[in-house]
Amino acid sequence: MNRLNLIEQVNAHDQLATSDFVRLLPKTELHLHLEGSLEPELMFKLAARNNVVLPYATIEEVKAAYDFHNLQSFLDIYYQCADVLRTEQDFFDLTWAYLLECQRDGIVHVEPFFDPQTHTERGIDIGIVIKGITRALAQAEQELGISSGLILCFLRHLSEEQAIECLQQAKPYLEHFIGVGLDSSELGHPPGKFTRVFAQARELGLRAVAHAGEEGPADYIVDALDILKVDRIDHGVRCVEDEDLMTRLVADQITLTVCPLSNTRLKVFSHMSEHNILQLLDQDVAVMVNADDPAFFGGYLMQNFDALIEHLDMTRLQAVKLALNSITGSFMSAEQQQSHIEKLLHIAKA
Ligand code: HPA
Ligand code: ZN
Repeated sequence: MNRLNLIEQVNAHDQLATSDFVRLLPKTELHLHLEGSLEPELMFKLAARNNVVLPYATIEEVKAAYDFHNLQSFLDIYYQCADVLRTEQDFFDLTWAYLLECQRDGIVHVEPFFDPQTHTERGIDIGIVIKGITRALAQAEQELGISSGLILCFLRHLSEEQAIECLQQAKPYLEHFIGVGLDSSELGHPPGKFTRVFAQARELGLRAVAHAGEEGPADYIVDALDILKVDRIDHGVRCVEDEDLMTRLVADQITLTVCPLSNTRLKVFSHMSEHNILQLLDQDVAVMVNADDPAFFGGYLMQNFDALIEHLDMTRLQAVKLALNSITGSFMSAEQQQSHIEKLLHIAKA
């Protein structure tokens, strides 16, 4: 469709609030840590069910603790909260609660992350984790019409040997995940530390993604692309510091899975009005919107879009492009993507 037609058609939705319009658009979520969707209410329920003593007495105390000043201050609490997750049912309940939020927000496809090492280090079998998550994902496909592909993340503050061991443990469940990722403390843990494990994963036919350029420098984005050979970059907002990289991201249409509320809560940007996502979009970088760790950062996908509407005056045309990038940046087949794109353009036109 030509650009002018799209602009006219998108603007024809004047009677609908922009937020409602965005909710209607078919969207994917490609940067979501399942452990980061553990709401305080479910955390207390699981703590009681599993006899885990939490360092917080009330939900208010939990929420007061979620006052972060950087990535590490968040990760310290995030790993502590994950201790309530013990059984297959716990992982099912966690994943199912997230998928119900997806349904509310108009998400048609998800590629969520999980951190097996957070659980295996506590003596929980990786099979328990994967079975609980995949049972919820299968039920969502059946009952909610939401398709998915699970991504296994390695914790970058641990060694590459530990990541290799994690991949070994996951091999019996290879059919249940589509790719590997890299998360946790970025600074001081460059992508090159994980060269061998990413090569092994790709040899197994898995896709690859990595967090890069959230707190770390633009060089980490270049290394993730060149050394780890990732298909897309998680966060990546510091790409603006390297002009050659910017040219490459546009030329190769490399998807950046950007997380606006996460970036402001972890002080990557001092305020939402300073966020660069729409500048990147307007420069034709393939950015799309995600919630990252919604239970910790103040909201799910639509709350991230609402923040862009409120603080950056996001237009409907920008929203349509972001939704389009979320579809084309996914690991869905070309046919599946095309079918969602047709629905998206139909709504944009209506
Ligand atoms: N960055 C790095 N590691 C993480 C994040 C993040 O935003 N969320 C959960 N683990
Ligand atoms: Zn993340």
